[in-house]
Amino acid sequence: MMSGVLIRNTWYVAGLSGEFPKGSLAGQVVAEKPIVLWRNAAGDIAAFDDRCVHKRMPLSQGRLLADGLLECAYHGLTYDGSGRCVRVPAHPDGHIPPAAQLRPVPLVEADGLVWVWPGDPAKAAAVPPPRIPELADPMWDSRDVGGAMAVPANSLLLIENLLDITHFYPLHDGNIGDVENSRIPVRVEEGTADGNRYIGTVREVENYRQPPYLAEYLGYEFVDRRHTHFLLCPGLTRVEMRVWPTGRKGDSAAERGYVILHTHTPVDRRNHVWHLIILMPKGQTCRSDPQKPAIDHFVETFPKVIAEDRWALERQQRMFEFPDDGYREVFLRPDAALRRARLMLARTERAEAPEPEAPEPASRAAE
Ligand code: FES
Ligand SMILES: [Fe+2]
Repeated sequence: MMSGVLIRNTWYVAGLSGEFPKGSLAGQVVAEKPIVLWRNAAGDIAAFDDRCVHKRMPLSQGRLLADGLLECAYHGLTYDGSGRCVRVPAHPDGHIPPAAQLRPVPLVEADGLVWVWPGDPAKAAAVPPPRIPELADPMWDSRDVGGAMAVPANSLLLIENLLDITHFYPLHDGNIGDVENSRIPVRVEEGTADGNRYIGTVREVENYRQPPYLAEYLGYEFVDRRHTHFLLCPGLTRVEMRVWPTGRKGDSAAERGYVILHTHTPVDRRNHVWHLIILMPKGQTCRSDPQKPAIDHFVETFPKVIAEDRWALERQQRMFEFPDDGYREVFLRPDAALRRARLMLARTERAEAPEPEAPEPASRAAE
């Protein structure tokens, strides 16, 4: 029985750039690593182990001083932007122990996202986080729909939810879902891009009657549609919806759609933080009100869909607390992608496990 995954040697989204304004101090736990994030007055952001080198007090509970230094809340050790301790109030002679240096956490800020690497820092340089060109494109609007959502479930449960959208019926029946969606054939694609393994699903359908929610976001009642869900790295899934009026597939003048980024950043084995970022081309308006941007309507209505998913994920997670007692999962045909994803993530996690210690050689006396 699979009880989720926890991978450390990968990039995770700590938040959107706007969540870390100048002069801000934030504390997070990412994949069981406590991290303090700190953006100085010049706008540069850095991340360090959140534990003060003195007595493990979380530095994110300290304060940023006017001179840009970070002071620990407990005994006042003070650190500069490189993580070096520069002041020890208990040492009037100014002595700084040479080992008083915070360990940096690799960080990349790109496309308005702040990524951190909670694992072995030496491995971070080889793999860049996936890029999201639409986030930096002025022709697109974006919104972080629910903010940083704390979900009491292993992040794999959200990944599986996204790779198998046959749950649209019944979980999302009455809004984005309908049973016809579950009958659309699924193709699985996988590969590697910039060192990140990806796995995804492609669902293509013609003359599909959109449920009213989607018709309102995208216009058109009957469409040819291409809908994809790609796990681009263990911390991010990208969803693309592209529709055309029936019979006009590929006609860019009639195309409508959206991109949804789901960031799933594990806290530990039982919790993750989820951001749902919607992106729509500027100028895409509601079907019933051509004056209203469709993205505004999405932000008003999609929280109900998110709440349904959270409801399911939390309940699934609770069932992992019981002994298996012979329980076995049954796989359906649309589960192909999530099975591949589980396998890939489990292998990645196993590869991170430290080598088991060699057994003690038996002593002669015991032979
Ligand atoms: S624990 Fe930070 S100064 Fe003592
Ligand atoms: Fe869902």
